[in-house]
Amino acid sequence: MNGLITDEALDRVRQATDIVELVSQHVSLKKSGANYLGLCPFHQEKTPSFTVSPSKQIFHCFGCGAGGDAVGFVMRQGNYSFPDAVQFLADRAGIELPERTVRGQSTGGDWEKLTAANEAAAKFYQERLWNSPDGKKALNYLRGRNMPDEAAKGFELGYSPASWDALLAHLKARGHDFGIIEKAGLTVKKADGTSSYDRFRDRLMFPIKDVKGRYIGFGGRALKNEELPKYLNSPETPLFKKGETLYGINIAKDEIRKKDYGVIVEGYMDAIACHRAGITNATATLGTALTPGHLRLLSRFSRNVLLVFDADEAGQKAARRSMDVFLSFGSKMTAKVALLPKGDDPDSLLAREGPNALREAFKGRENLLEFVIKRESAGVLDIDGKIKAAAALTGILARLDDAVERSHYVKMAASELGVEESAVREEMEKKIGGGARTGVYRSRAFEAGRPAAPLDKIESGLIQAALKDPEAALYAADNLTPGDFSDERLRVIADALFKTALTGGAVSMPKLLDALEDEGAKRAALELSVREAAHEDSLEYVRGAVSKLMEARYRKTVEETHALLLKAGTLGESDAVAELSDFRMKMMKALSGKDFELLNKLQKELTEWQKKRSWTK
Ligand code: UTP
Ligand code: MN
Repeated sequence: MNGLITDEALDRVRQATDIVELVSQHVSLKKSGANYLGLCPFHQEKTPSFTVSPSKQIFHCFGCGAGGDAVGFVMRQGNYSFPDAVQFLADRAGIELPERTVRGQSTGGDWEKLTAANEAAAKFYQERLWNSPDGKKALNYLRGRNMPDEAAKGFELGYSPASWDALLAHLKARGHDFGIIEKAGLTVKKADGTSSYDRFRDRLMFPIKDVKGRYIGFGGRALKNEELPKYLNSPETPLFKKGETLYGINIAKDEIRKKDYGVIVEGYMDAIACHRAGITNATATLGTALTPGHLRLLSRFSRNVLLVFDADEAGQKAARRSMDVFLSFGSKMTAKVALLPKGDDPDSLLAREGPNALREAFKGRENLLEFVIKRESAGVLDIDGKIKAAAALTGILARLDDAVERSHYVKMAASELGVEESAVREEMEKKIGGGARTGVYRSRAFEAGRPAAPLDKIESGLIQAALKDPEAALYAADNLTPGDFSDERLRVIADALFKTALTGGAVSMPKLLDALEDEGAKRAALELSVREAAHEDSLEYVRGAVSKLMEARYRKTVEETHALLLKAGTLGESDAVAELSDFRMKMMKALSGKDFELLNKLQKELTEWQKKRSWTK
């Protein structure tokens, strides 16, 4: 268990999550008896063996052995770490987790101080924009770009004065530690290392917030177009990782969830333009190409993404690059593309033609892969061009993990290139064989474990019944010990299960799984709890099975007594020989009459008897 997530937080998240509803977003499930069945998302299969149990809140695949609770599903499905998966489900359920349970120690405990310094800086910049003579310049620039004052206020835009130390002095006077200001990237050290100066000077400031609205960094735009760089951003800090941040995510996330897709544009001004036009599920990357970190962040709210590109060459290149990132997510994320008129970005389109035009432009969208296939084959007429385009496209197609999807796009690529479908398919197959299906396919094949050894029928039936019925579990716990199970996996489960039963707790599968560290035991528990029970009455079944296991236990004792007897004989302990034969006779008689009470008593006597004779050890 990860120490950063408290048990209490984990409980709340689990209680707020329904695994059937969660899994349904990725797998089409059909009711089957007490459970739901579907095609396993973790290995390739044609007949469904992926089972979800609503009553136990777990999933289990009889095909590949994958299984777990809701957290486990998210971890596997989205390649999340445990804390990230818990965070994902918490976000989904609208649960606030205590800060320290999620962020870890990456900021060395300075998280609050760093965001506080950034927040104070944001307020300072804002104040300067609206209330200082030199801020007028920036305000005029904004108004010149058609930005309404309310939008500028809503996004907390500001102005960093043309001074080397205005911010530093301001923050210091307010008690912010210099080390923190520096670490937040608000200042830059001089080359000789003796002093520092304000990083952002004479720029229009865009505060960047994380998903919870905390101030983690800034983008600053030059007010003159010839000034370089056009945008200056906070450096990578413990708070601020460009590749994992989307501008506007804090205000867009609820809409992304509601509309079930998120929009990603390229610039600060573009994100603001979208929101102004009512496209409130829009976010922006921060001057970097799309990364898996961006998708991971967005995937907390929806698995669908709309990318917005300019219709020019650069837009096409960006689309190609994004394709790679999406492929690494397998079928977990879907991508569509909206194209803007050549040379436009959302901000310029809004400024020129108004909100309707922008919204309209977003409506004409196509599948990213379709877009890439069409662009890659556009204008290709000669054979060299076709070979080159086919090579690029089949490299992509080979990485799709769904056979139906692959087939669909093979057809499309062949038709766009004007070649035989079989030729494209052949080229693609070569690449699949050559391991082009990296990431997704391989890791899935790896996770699909070898089939586990079969479980003993009576022992596993007993555990299955005990998992189903608390009364049966208690009966088993009262009469058996884990040592009565011959299978190590079942011993481990019995140990955890009996402890819960004896402390009066109802068995919660997710919790039981937490307690089981052994993979084999986990898998066995999952399998048993989702498998259709072979018996009607759990308690009655457990009574019978307990009796059989007790019989086996005492039969073993009889055998041990026999071994002792032989040993006593060779040692010449004639009294002991007589006493042991007497024990053995009594035990065998009690065994045939299934008198467990007597057997138990005899067993205890034998143990006492042995204690007094050191040669028996
Ligand atoms: P663009 O050059 O397309 O600028 O960069 P833009 O968003 O249209 O900005 P305006 O409309 O001229 O004000 C897109 C994004 O790339 C990042 C910024 O996040 C910008 O919004 N960028 C760009 C930088 O980080 N640094 C730069 O020098 C330029
Ligand atoms: Mn622009």
